[in-house]
Amino acid sequence: MSFENTLVQYAPERPAFHFTPPKGWMNDPNGLVFFEGEYHLFYQYYPDAVVWGPMHWGHAVSTDLTNWIHLDAALLPDENGMCFSGSAIVDASDCSGLFGGQPGLIAFYTAHRVLSDAPDDYVQEQCIAYSSDKGRSWQKYAGNPVIAPPGFRDFRDPKVIWHGPSQHWIMVLACGQSIRFYRSVNLLDWTLASEFGAGQGRHTTGPWECPDLFELPVEAGEGSRWVLVVGVGASEDDWGSFTQYFVGDFDGGHFHNENAADKVLLMDESRDFYAVQSWSDVADGRRLAIAWLSNWLYANQIPENGWRGSMSVVRELALVATDDGVRLRQDFAPEFGRQVAEAQIRLPASLALSAGQDYRAEYAKGPGYGRTSLTLSPGARVTLYLQQHAWPDLELSLDAGALSISHRREGKNGDERFDRYFAHDFSVAAGNDPRIELEWFSDHGSLEMLVNGGLISLTSLSISSQGGCAPMVAVTQGQCLLESLEYARLAIGDLDNWRALA
Ligand code: FRU
Repeated sequence: MSFENTLVQYAPERPAFHFTPPKGWMNDPNGLVFFEGEYHLFYQYYPDAVVWGPMHWGHAVSTDLTNWIHLDAALLPDENGMCFSGSAIVDASDCSGLFGGQPGLIAFYTAHRVLSDAPDDYVQEQCIAYSSDKGRSWQKYAGNPVIAPPGFRDFRDPKVIWHGPSQHWIMVLACGQSIRFYRSVNLLDWTLASEFGAGQGRHTTGPWECPDLFELPVEAGEGSRWVLVVGVGASEDDWGSFTQYFVGDFDGGHFHNENAADKVLLMDESRDFYAVQSWSDVADGRRLAIAWLSNWLYANQIPENGWRGSMSVVRELALVATDDGVRLRQDFAPEFGRQVAEAQIRLPASLALSAGQDYRAEYAKGPGYGRTSLTLSPGARVTLYLQQHAWPDLELSLDAGALSISHRREGKNGDERFDRYFAHDFSVAAGNDPRIELEWFSDHGSLEMLVNGGLISLTSLSISSQGGCAPMVAVTQGQCLLESLEYARLAIGDLDNWRALA
């Protein structure tokens, strides 16, 4: 079956375990911070329509990264403009002086002020809001903006971190197609330290957006590295908005990329993993991150049902040394309902399959978590059906010792823009090992796949209304040893409260 010429018009079901806004429009995650036992998730929010509009910061909290409670919108547009993306930190020692000696929360956001009807006539400046009541109410700082417009337009998405070695706060800002680093001791007064980006990584016609910066140890005891995450924004080049990252060193003022300047590292190889941000102030140095599951090419045109937009499953990030250098590795956050011990489907013993044969588990339809490992013979082609049996999600192939993963997506909904951009067809190289490990979350409207321990991430919106199916593995060429396969259905919770099926 092909969706090629099929008009798919349906009201999507709420995802079973992906965060969605209570109503209206959502894009980027903002202000991710852990404080007094709660994970805060703010997000770009327009409650009054299902398309992008005057940006608010929506707000939800969770104690387990799994069940989220919606709270009132935290920041609303005002005479300084809309509240664009940004970050939040715990001011534990009240170095800002905003909290009367107590700890408090500070959010950094970009005020976006439209000057006329012309699409590019706006100013952007950096502002602060603060809360003394665990984020339940917010006050905009009287001294806003803390950084005035520098004379160019795209100047946004402040990410603030504490840099221990230099005892400074750092603000990382997207500026046109580069990243600027500012420094402060009191979170209110900021000085420009350096700029990074010219000739580095991937540039398109879109602006760089939503930076993040953090340090992580390299697994297996190779010291640590700094990671600079950069969103490459809305453009019609390549495949729209996507997320790249750089690995290197940050000394409190300058970022040094340790890879060749033209080396492009992607946090996700598919199309719908954007505006990635990590939580501040999480204990034990864990680096937890979340992304907006969409792409500016068609974000305003995907099927809606009174709400539009969802977040990814929370990921835990790590660094590993590979033959090509130090690279990011992602894991689904272990908190996230991975009840594999209770999998309804488990392959009892490994299974050798030849061309024309398949394995199809018989039960468990609907959203869930799965994982499998398989080994391909030279020249083999293996098709995986993970969301519905009528449409393959992935094809694995092993040619001349190189494994590749192909993903083909079709679908139209009658909207000219969606119909033009939603379909894609691409292959990614997955190394020279004939054995591959996959794990995925399949939900209404999306498939999130991690390959080989999370060295490759493939995150895609889908138009499947089934959300997930009992996995099916079909060999079309050569042989495949299916070593393991498990699938656990996850319950569909109510809007504020979902959890894994016991
Ligand atoms: C990224 C982005 C940000 C901006 C926000 C506006 O998706 O374009 O750069 O702050 O969305 O909603």
